[in-house]
Amino acid sequence: MARDNWSGRFGFVLAAAGSAIGLGNLWKFPYITWNNNGGAFVLVYLLCILVVGLPLMCSEILIGRRSQSSVASAFGRLGHPKWDFVGFIGVAAGFVILGFYAVIAGWSLASFAECLGWSVQGYEAPSDEAFGTFLADPLKQIGLGFVFMVATSLIVWRGVSGGIERAAKILMPTLMVILVYILIVTCTLSGAGEALTFLFKPDFSKLDSHGVLEALGHAFFTLSLGMGAMITYGSYMKKSERVVPISITVVILDTIIALVACMIMYSIIFTVDGLRDEVGKSTVGMLFVTLPKLFYTEMTGSGGAFVGPLFYILVAFAALSSTISLLEVIVSLFVDRYGWNRTKATVTAATSVFGLSVLSALSLGANGFLSSVKLFGSSETGVLHSLNKLVTKDKGGVLNILDHISANWLLPIGGLAITIYVGWVLPTKDSKEELFGEGEGSSLFYKVWLFFVRFVVPAAIGWVIVDVVLGGDFS
Ligand code: PFF
Repeated sequence: MARDNWSGRFGFVLAAAGSAIGLGNLWKFPYITWNNNGGAFVLVYLLCILVVGLPLMCSEILIGRRSQSSVASAFGRLGHPKWDFVGFIGVAAGFVILGFYAVIAGWSLASFAECLGWSVQGYEAPSDEAFGTFLADPLKQIGLGFVFMVATSLIVWRGVSGGIERAAKILMPTLMVILVYILIVTCTLSGAGEALTFLFKPDFSKLDSHGVLEALGHAFFTLSLGMGAMITYGSYMKKSERVVPISITVVILDTIIALVACMIMYSIIFTVDGLRDEVGKSTVGMLFVTLPKLFYTEMTGSGGAFVGPLFYILVAFAALSSTISLLEVIVSLFVDRYGWNRTKATVTAATSVFGLSVLSALSLGANGFLSSVKLFGSSETGVLHSLNKLVTKDKGGVLNILDHISANWLLPIGGLAITIYVGWVLPTKDSKEELFGEGEGSSLFYKVWLFFVRFVVPAAIGWVIVDVVLGGDFS
């Protein structure tokens, strides 16, 4: 059977941007930027995106396009089967990330329902414990994750052009329109000016070296790099498309959305007295606890009742276009490597991931054991304790562990392997031809790109990994 393809450049850009734009942009980035005091961190992040993200994005897409295979067997197809281990790291990362991402994505549905209720029946302030109670509710946590997994599976099951591309063509433009509308509304708030200053006026005395590494670590997650999602998506790209401009477009879109998300949230936060001290307390706080209230208490005159539910549709859409790519990485392992049909591959992948997400869902307070379990057991001394400290920073709880392992280990290691492969193993003739077409293209750009892929990107990722081994944490 002929391999499915994106119908064209537009389809690929939307699907790849859909993978990149997700909870990383709307939930993680505003939070870490806040904790790293804005300005200088944003500048460093932009540099990481340019220096590490873009070269790696081109590398992944070119591997996929050249091999015409998903990450699971791309390296073997290019004549280096020993490198197929990278594909397995990628699939493992997809499994681990989806195992917790689907649960968090499910919260957007709950926030949507809550906001809709407030819009219709009037706002009723939730108690301080409301979010904790929600997290510890097993049925809600499993049920919402389930809904998300079913939606994801149905789209992936329908294939690349008929499912993923079609969904992206609806989800992404809707997301952009909603985002622009909310941006315009929030820019009229009195705190908008301060938000701009916070975001774009760098003060390097407020940034430490850990912040730099955090920016670098986040660059992988937000661009869906290091696990072969872009290899897999690139493998469905037609030979006539040009890799470099497309990569640049995806990277720019992802970055703009992350900055717009910050603008929206910070404008609201700076408008409300006393709020700025409250928001940094928890990773989930800003997106799922602070914002819903604000739409109804601070934006009453500026369309909060309309913007509230709309905002969570946006979050759900962004998350869905990312979960699709995560599942596709796993499904394509079965299809490309083992020749399964799409139905069997999708059902197998989705049910096994759902099994893991049930464990994540119950690890937020519903089940005592799963909420506190450690990867290498609970021993407080000896080798296992040291392993817990090294591998997971002694974190407890399934969801926390999955988040930690993917952000700190799987994505950086996968990214390192990919950049070494493209820089040092794949013949330069192949990479040049794939990036610019035969005999075409600027050889200066190619040389600069190769320099980054060979030296700068591996050095930067190596730094992240050394920092993780020494006790850093990017999750
Ligand atoms: N890039 C997504 C986000 O920012 O939310 C997360 C993600 C999706 C990571 C797909 C990796 C991936 F393969």
